Amino acid sequence: MKKVLVLYQSKTGFSQRYAEWIAEDLGCDCHSARDVEPVDLKDYGLIVYGAGIYAGMLAGARRIKNWMEKSPDKIWVVFATGATPPKEGYEEMILKTNFREGEVKPAHFFYLLSGINYEKMGLLDRLLMFFFSRMDSRKRGSQAPTKLTSIDLSSRTYTQDLLRYVRLKAK
Ligand SMILES: Cc1cc2nc3c(=O)[nH]c(=O)nc-3n(C[C@H](O)[C@H](O)[C@H](O)COP(=O)(O)O)c2cc1C
Repeated sequence: MKKVLVLYQSKTGFSQRYAEWIAEDLGCDCHSARDVEPVDLKDYGLIVYGAGIYAGMLAGARRIKNWMEKSPDKIWVVFATGATPPKEGYEEMILKTNFREGEVKPAHFFYLLSGINYEKMGLLDRLLMFFFSRMDSRKRGSQAPTKLTSIDLSSRTYTQDLLRYVRLKAK
């Protein structure tokens, strides 16, 4: 049985909450990737990493790819959280954008629907979202929203496929 660790990087709490749900269901350790050094990973055989998508890019991808390259003996599972409702090809597109041809790849990649939390967002991200929403409204020819409202579309049930995969691989 492989020892499992769940790591996350999270700005507004969505990836952290998913990571904690996953770790709770697996009965394993869970930490912020920022609090961990590569040496801390030595006892684990399977590592799950989760973070948010920002303009198509998985947060902390560079660090995790670096760790994956240094520990090819471990099984790496990655999940990305995002506000885009899952549609055909989206998961594959995010995977390909963040793990390019010739780069190290996770054993499995999952996309988990989360939401948007303006209250926990930093000023820069809030400004970016404001401009994104204006651009989107212009493209659609609709009125730009006067107030940006947070939305939580996350659900513990979305972790089921990931949990099944990890349990199988950790055996
Ligand atoms: C500036 C900004 C850009 C974002 N870009 C995307 C995106 O390209 N695709 C997407 O699905 N969600 C996008 N989101 C939503 C986040 O991915 C989502 O809220 C995520 O769960 C945040 O994770 P975290 O709170 O764990 O950091 C964006 C959010 C912000 C603030």
